[in-house]
Amino acid sequence: MEFIVKSGTPEKQRTGCIVVGVFEARKLSAVAHQIDEVSGGAIGAILRRGDLEGKAGQTLLLHNIPNLPSERVLLVGCGKEKEFNESRYRDAAARAVIALKDTGTTEITSYLTEIDVKGRDIAWKVRQAVEVTEATLYRFDRLKSKPNNQRRALRRVVLAVPKRSDLGPGEQAIREGQAIAEGVRLARDLGNLPGNICTPTYLAEQAVEIGKQYNLKTTILEKDEMEKLGMGALLSVSRGSRQPPKLIVLEYQGGKEGEPPVALVGKGLTFDAGGISIKPAANMDEMKYDMCGGASVLGAMKAAAELKLPLNIVGIVPSSENLPDGDANKPGDIVTSMSGQTVEVLNTDAEGRLILSDALTYAERYHPVVVIDIATLTGACVIALGAHASGLLANNDQLAREILNAGKYTHDRAWQLPLWDEYQKQLDSNFADMANIGGREAGTITGACFLSRYAKNFKWAHLDIAGTAWKTGKEKGATGRPVPLLVQFLLNRAHKSDAETAA
Ligand code: BES
Ligand code: MN
Ligand code: ZN
Repeated sequence: MEFIVKSGTPEKQRTGCIVVGVFEARKLSAVAHQIDEVSGGAIGAILRRGDLEGKAGQTLLLHNIPNLPSERVLLVGCGKEKEFNESRYRDAAARAVIALKDTGTTEITSYLTEIDVKGRDIAWKVRQAVEVTEATLYRFDRLKSKPNNQRRALRRVVLAVPKRSDLGPGEQAIREGQAIAEGVRLARDLGNLPGNICTPTYLAEQAVEIGKQYNLKTTILEKDEMEKLGMGALLSVSRGSRQPPKLIVLEYQGGKEGEPPVALVGKGLTFDAGGISIKPAANMDEMKYDMCGGASVLGAMKAAAELKLPLNIVGIVPSSENLPDGDANKPGDIVTSMSGQTVEVLNTDAEGRLILSDALTYAERYHPVVVIDIATLTGACVIALGAHASGLLANNDQLAREILNAGKYTHDRAWQLPLWDEYQKQLDSNFADMANIGGREAGTITGACFLSRYAKNFKWAHLDIAGTAWKTGKEKGATGRPVPLLVQFLLNRAHKSDAETAA
């Protein structure tokens, strides 16, 4: 999709469709009002007939509006003007795309960007418009024998900005929006691919491809190298699978030589049946999404490389399946992780923390400034936060704040849970240094507590994306979250002065 920014009034736009907002009680937005004026009151007259009230989510497509060179006008209901906020803006942008995608419109000029969103500037609105448009048009049909040949006619989106001086920031916002959208698309594609295609080997091949495309250093650690390193936790999970495990490492060098990197560590469990502690059958297919943390790392790395961010970044994705087998982990087994700490595997379904523990230890060799791990770690997080916020836990409050802020800005939000010492004792084991589960209570927190024991030597944060990485039900599919949050986090770091990041 081509996106451009343009400043100019609607009556001059020769375009497939002009998109404008209408608030509840048929209150015209400024640009809708302008169109109404030049058309001799045509918009007002149509609204008075009652076809559109202005409620959030409504759309009305109009043709042949007098004195307008554009072919169509799309009115988008924006709800009460006083309530118009970030979510409403995103919803309006998505509604416009849905209303137009099958109409044969090839170019749209959207003036939704000119509606005020409290606290947000034009760059924010342009970027969100790009991200929402791409996300709304996303389809995953490569595995249908006859792809639904929708017309996908929309080719160009013009985003209106009020002032000429907005053009520069608008163009930068488009660049960022497109890079993020590409990262999100990659993460969604990898997530949606089934476990029989998206294996650890496949993930590693994709990483190698990205590495080639962006000239990143790519290293794939194989099983024998993991054995030499003593990655007993990761290896214990993969023992139940016929697919060989992979530890994928991507290094992006956009910063100074020798500058400590940001490390992103993503859970790449390509199918989680639970192992011997097998999961119930219902919805087990969704455990193909258990690699979405790893996919988000690849997506964020791709976007960072595309934007040539002046940072060093290392992406680490431990990848394995978790299946029942004669050689699989058994409840009660004790494994020794690369850190030397021993773990009693009381539940083989708590495997994410096992593969991540060795990946976190491995991250130490990069002397990272900060480490963020991203994982579909606990069902408990879905119960606690639902599908709207990722769980955030950290051993450093400054880092937690940075992540929360990045999430707020991109509307890919996280919510912090406590990581108090009191929770740690739930992991006590009679036989090993720790158990891999902490009982029924506070499952997301005890999952993070487990990881924290492998993150003592750096500033670390953990994002539990079990509720946010994919949607269930009729709209089943990967969301690409938290790629927007991660890229925003990196953008903010890139823009900060060296003095600030050193702190
Ligand atoms: N991948 C799952 C977490 C999960 C479950 C995410 C359902 C989304 C939906 C993880 O490996 C897992 O099985 N976690 C267990 C941990 C428990 C055994 C302590 C869980 O959440 O039940
Ligand atoms: Mn599991
Ligand atoms: Zn899992």
